[in-house]
Amino acid sequence: MTTTLITGANKGLGFETARRLVAAGHDVYIGSRDPEAGRRAAARLGAKAVQIDVTDDESVAEAAKTVEAEGGLDVLVNNAGIEGRTGDNGVVGAADLTAEAMRPLLEVNVLGVVRVTHAFLPLLRHSDHPVVVNLSSGLASMARITTEGTPAHAYTGVAYPASKTAVNMITVQYAKAFPEMRINAVEPGFTATDLNGNTGIQTVEQGAEVIVGMACVGPDGPTGGYFDVDDRLPW
Ligand SMILES: NC(=O)c1ccc[n+]([C@@H]2O[C@H](COP(=O)([O-])OP(=O)(O)OC[C@H]3O[C@@H](n4cnc5c(N)ncnc54)[C@H](OP(=O)(O)O)[C@@H]3O)[C@@H](O)[C@H]2O)c1
Repeated sequence: MTTTLITGANKGLGFETARRLVAAGHDVYIGSRDPEAGRRAAARLGAKAVQIDVTDDESVAEAAKTVEAEGGLDVLVNNAGIEGRTGDNGVVGAADLTAEAMRPLLEVNVLGVVRVTHAFLPLLRHSDHPVVVNLSSGLASMARITTEGTPAHAYTGVAYPASKTAVNMITVQYAKAFPEMRINAVEPGFTATDLNGNTGIQTVEQGAEVIVGMACVGPDGPTGGYFDVDDRLPW
């Protein structure tokens, strides 16, 4: 059986991805920083729960120890993320951004991916068919964000797209380093979740489609790519 860990899976796209992968026969760990929220989500789906705060070395190391002791890992979905919206659901533009305001986004979205991937690498290397899915964003695309007239170009926030462009680079470099693994970045599309105050125009069912697809990619499937549900995206 394929064993899968999804970080930040107590709600939103992570939860929907977990629901679909349980239905597809995966043995799924709901990763959540709040243990109670994780247990509740796992109970709803018939999944397992593991506490994991992606900003905390000790929590991540403990989670890796637990998953290893219970049999190992085949698929890692680095889903936990934050956008850093303001109280009125706005984004922080270049005029107002401070290093302090950007730090948590880098800690969760970028260093979180590295911290978790590093901790679970030994487990993935034991798998016959290791897969990593990194949650990127359409806003990570330099090509899109510099193309006038597109929704990406109209987005004025700085920290979130910068963090997701870093996720794309991390994806490419890890994929080169571990050619035996399938490691891809995915853009779920603008999806109604707490991340954006539920302003997204897609459902989580639609958003999870590409995440589930890449979590189930075969050994001959792509690696080092950046995809939405339809196709490869321009970097
Ligand atoms: N929604 C979109 O339109 C969209 C578009 C492109 C990409 N994405 C990406 O998709 C991923 C999932 O986002 P979502 O829209 O489903 O948002 P969401 O509903 O807000 O879920 C985010 C999840 O990440 C968790 N999380 C935050 N900080 C964490 C930490 N330090 N350690 C562990 N977990 C943490 C949250 O846990 P708590 O419940 O404890 O806060 C929650 O479970 C993110 O990486 C996001 O950037 C989303």
